[in-house]
Amino acid sequence: DIKACLFDLDGVIVDTAVYHYRAWKRLANELGFDFTEEENEKLKGVSRVRSLELILEWAGITKTEEERAELAARKNSWYVDMISSMQPEEVLPGAREFLEEVRAAGMKTALGSASKNSGLILERTGLLSLFDAIVDGNSVTASKPDPQVFLKGAEALNTAPHQCVVFEDAVAGIEAAKAGGMKVVGVGSPEILHDADLVVKGLYELSTDLLYHL
Ligand code: BG6
Ligand code: MG
Repeated sequence: DIKACLFDLDGVIVDTAVYHYRAWKRLANELGFDFTEEENEKLKGVSRVRSLELILEWAGITKTEEERAELAARKNSWYVDMISSMQPEEVLPGAREFLEEVRAAGMKTALGSASKNSGLILERTGLLSLFDAIVDGNSVTASKPDPQVFLKGAEALNTAPHQCVVFEDAVAGIEAAKAGGMKVVGVGSPEILHDADLVVKGLYELSTDLLYHL
């Protein structure tokens, strides 16, 4: 029996993956290099600090810890500028409706995001009240593919991992859900998210009865 749904935020509920990509690309370009969209897939679900490490690695560039902190802060200030003007209309198609349907069916909901900006995004888009628990980058010590963020979500909802379904657009997030012993619905392309139990293009394709067949 499925009792709880744990949602990733960026790329599942809101299209902030695009904003992250733009801000990282701008930073890379300022430093005189670039990275591919394929490489960008590897940044999804990954913490800010780790994302920067990866980008620098791909470019073969070494920076001190202090420099890295400054670069990550610079990227974040551009990103925060973009999300500060987000509107409820930017919630991805079907996401609000699906959250409401899940709650109406008696299941609990939690956010399981690597982002430290999740509070601002949920406030701006008017979704905060649809979550029973919020676990994000401010409350975890290990990032996806480590299952910690989802295990904490399950715990906050008093639900066993095998009674949870995770919704994820990132390969690292699907790995995290599997490592935590949860069912996982991939949101995106089946070629990339092949380890998910089911892959949909967006939450608009889902209804709660599909969850019982996972
Ligand atoms: C994840 C995104 O949700 O949050 C990553 O998929 C991002 O791309 C990570 O790096 C951390 O986000 P933030 O907002 O704390 O920089
Ligand atoms: Mg995501």
